[in-house]
Amino acid sequence: MNIEDFRNFCLSLPATHEEMPFDEQTLVFKVAGKMFALTDIDSFESITLKCEPEKAQELRARYASVMPGYHMHKKYWNTLRLDGSLQDEALRHWILHSYAQVVAGLPKKSGNRFLKAKPNLDVPEKKIRYMPISSDFTAYQAAYEMSEEERLQRAETYLAHLQKRRSLREFSDRPVARQLIAHIIKAAGTAPSGAHKQPWTFCAVSNPEIKRQIREAAEAEEYENYHGRMSESWLQDLQAFGTDWQKPFLEIAPWLIVVFRKIYDLDAEGQKHNNYYVSESVGLAAGFLLTAIHEAGLVALTHTPSPMNFLSKVLRRPANEKPFLLIPVGFPAKDAQVPALSRKPLDEICVFFE
Ligand SMILES: Cc1cc2nc3c(=O)[nH]c(=O)nc-3n(C[C@H](O)[C@H](O)[C@H](O)COP(=O)(O)O)c2cc1C
Repeated sequence: MNIEDFRNFCLSLPATHEEMPFDEQTLVFKVAGKMFALTDIDSFESITLKCEPEKAQELRARYASVMPGYHMHKKYWNTLRLDGSLQDEALRHWILHSYAQVVAGLPKKSGNRFLKAKPNLDVPEKKIRYMPISSDFTAYQAAYEMSEEERLQRAETYLAHLQKRRSLREFSDRPVARQLIAHIIKAAGTAPSGAHKQPWTFCAVSNPEIKRQIREAAEAEEYENYHGRMSESWLQDLQAFGTDWQKPFLEIAPWLIVVFRKIYDLDAEGQKHNNYYVSESVGLAAGFLLTAIHEAGLVALTHTPSPMNFLSKVLRRPANEKPFLLIPVGFPAKDAQVPALSRKPLDEICVFFE
């Protein structure tokens, strides 16, 4: 383990940062402001780590290169001489142990705040995967100062803008630039997600042959839906929209954005890693996508020709991705019509507690 490996490993642990509070040689790693590892950067001959007292004694007895913590409380700290006798894996394990000791001693409040997804530090070190955190926190950049009047004005303007968004089922074949679609998808990717896992993939399809295949498969499913799979009451509810099993817009709209939710992640070695609140996260991203489409002066339809497994097949998506929504995007057809809907008033969708 060289000093860069040591540093990278320490900083890969949640809520860690480095500093040099004592002198210009001693590099200290802290979790939530508490020290868990230190070393001399000039020599990098040893590292000093916290250790559970009994284990600390045991390690000293077992390894000649483990000594009572230099300049530290000998009961809780060990200094490990890096003379090549200690394997990297063991060193990483003891760094983790030190980190876990410090985390365990944090006040509950700050422990929770910094380490919401507290790693299970009892499992063997190689099974633990940490999201690399290069720096601790960064200043929030987007606070807009404005008068209360302007704030209200902006909220009203935004509401009026969103009131105009509608689901379109009649599209023009007028092309839409790829770059515009890319920006819209990037906007969707700014949505919040459980543990920042960003569990989504957006497939943007303009290829006519792929659109044809999607239309064909969607219509096959929708035919079944409209001829037996949907309940009578569902069919009645849909009457207001004038929809049927035919979906020509899937070929006419210049782009189809197919949103997939990633039920788990796969790393380069093919290992599975959990995602959290996947449907909530992808639902939010889809909402951001729809507002970005509207903002760009385009229209879309939130479409769900269920079951949608055919989308995984046509687009050859991996097993961890499940189709979520099929969204044609483009310009409205000339004289396009939409159902005359009204939206629930505030008192039907909101309860204030003041
Ligand atoms: C999850 C979801 C699935 C939908 N599926 C379909 C669909 O398969 N076909 C369709 O024509 N509209 C579909 N819609 C569109 C709704 O009918 C539409 O959003 C609703 O009538 C309100 O109209 P608006 O979007 O113009 O405000 C879906 C909407 C949502 C949110």
